[in-house]
Amino acid sequence: MSWDLPIRKELNMVEEEIKRCVQSQQQLLTEISMHVIGAGGKRIRPGVSILCYKAVGGTEVSNVIGIAAAFELIHSATLIHDDINDGGTIRRGKVSAFRKYGVQLALVAGDFLFVKGFRAGGSFSKEVVEIIADSCACMAEGEILQVGHINDPSTSIDTYFKIIEGKTAKPIEASAKVSAFLGGGSPNVIEALGFYGLNLGMAFQIMDDILDIVGKEDILGKPKGMDFSDGTPTLPIILAMEDGYKGKRLSKLFEKKKKRRWEIEEALKILMESDAIQLSKEKALEFSNKAIESLSILKPSVYEEALKTLARTVVERES
Ligand code: IPE
Ligand code: IPE
Ligand code: MG
Ligand code: MG
Repeated sequence: MSWDLPIRKELNMVEEEIKRCVQSQQQLLTEISMHVIGAGGKRIRPGVSILCYKAVGGTEVSNVIGIAAAFELIHSATLIHDDINDGGTIRRGKVSAFRKYGVQLALVAGDFLFVKGFRAGGSFSKEVVEIIADSCACMAEGEILQVGHINDPSTSIDTYFKIIEGKTAKPIEASAKVSAFLGGGSPNVIEALGFYGLNLGMAFQIMDDILDIVGKEDILGKPKGMDFSDGTPTLPIILAMEDGYKGKRLSKLFEKKKKRRWEIEEALKILMESDAIQLSKEKALEFSNKAIESLSILKPSVYEEALKTLARTVVERES
């Protein structure tokens, strides 16, 4: 069963809400926004929102649609900005926003989506707004920490975990927590679902980092080999750099600011042949299992089952 099966109707409502949110007098802002949002995406963040809301017994669906849309709008904003930062040329199978419209317009469109996300999420209580804002601050902090370790082969695994917790896991934790709160979950349940989101996010980013090495570009909808070429220290890269004389060679290549095509090819070959991919998968699985364990606080339901399926899907995914 696909994880989103029980909430297809609600996810369609989120799409409508997003389209409404990105309307603007400036046609170009709507166009750039829809270039990214309309291109697809897995909709994991709104999915987590709706499932958590329903899993704690929330019944008034219209209450959670705005929040779910807010998280996807904020996520889309970060994707536009991320492609500017990483030089990502393809996103969701289409040419990235900054490549199509230029950096200036893409920056403004990203800001526009951030603000629209906050507007959609900001009409709720103070607690909700605080959780969303704090998670966005963590995202920025994670990104800054990452920038500080670009091309740094001595980046520790602890630092890597701190980076991905900030840039990816915190926003997913926020989407789970806020939705459990709105659905009427008790403080213990809200905390447990937050823990689910956090661990799901960790597993998710580790898999993204693995797929950057072993994935298929047409399925991923984005280029591969980007992390090594950009000098982004990911778990598989860090583990492989620690591994023997091949690891030393990898570190030397990783350090270079400008890498040639053949150097990236050589690095990818070393990475694929190392144990680092398998070890990273095991780590992702650990996080995914932790996420699943924290669901034991919930009453059984199709939504609780779908949250479990999502956590399993994240570590088996190819896109
Ligand atoms: C990409 O996120 C950015 C990361 C946090 C790895 P997704 O893989 O969820 O992107 P879409 O929304 O499905 O395109
Ligand atoms: C995700 O990391 C960063 C965000 C939170 C947007 P990546 O830089 O690995 O994301 P992709 O691989 O470009 O989607
Ligand atoms: Mg990127
Ligand atoms: Mg990536």
